[in-house]
Amino acid sequence: MDRRAFLQKTTRDAASLLLVPVCASLTSCTLPVRSHRTHGGPRMEIPLARYPELEEEGGVVKILSADGGVFFLRRTASGHVCHSALCTHQSCVVEAFPRGYECPCHGSTYDAAGRNTGGPAPRPLPAYPSWREGDVVIVDLRGEDATTPREPTQGGKS
Ligand code: FES
Repeated sequence: MDRRAFLQKTTRDAASLLLVPVCASLTSCTLPVRSHRTHGGPRMEIPLARYPELEEEGGVVKILSADGGVFFLRRTASGHVCHSALCTHQSCVVEAFPRGYECPCHGSTYDAAGRNTGGPAPRPLPAYPSWREGDVVIVDLRGEDATTPREPTQGGKS
């Protein structure tokens, strides 16, 4: 192998190594998220028997409410958390990742707790009270959860 061929191969190999971590932020690397449709109203019930991924930490289900709401229900180490799926920048629907959310419109990012961590999103994703009752997770949409993060983890730009 001559010097030119060696440099070309080395450059290609290095470029392919650099692409691996980038994959974590691309759409093709999102979680395989299933959707659950609800009847609408302030109380949502998500049956765990239909969504076993909600029994495993990091599992996420997208919830589509009949009255137009879009949410993500995520299993955490301590229980379940429900976030609005609407980006706090200009209300595009965010996509779920193992460690959080990313907005496809202008690139805002959020961690798994819903805190805005990058891009133009000015606020965290609203969170709603959710709890388990037997084999069902209940989400109450009448108000934001007191645990909704109030501050971004790093300053969001508006
Ligand atoms: S709408 Fe999400 S970053 Fe602009």
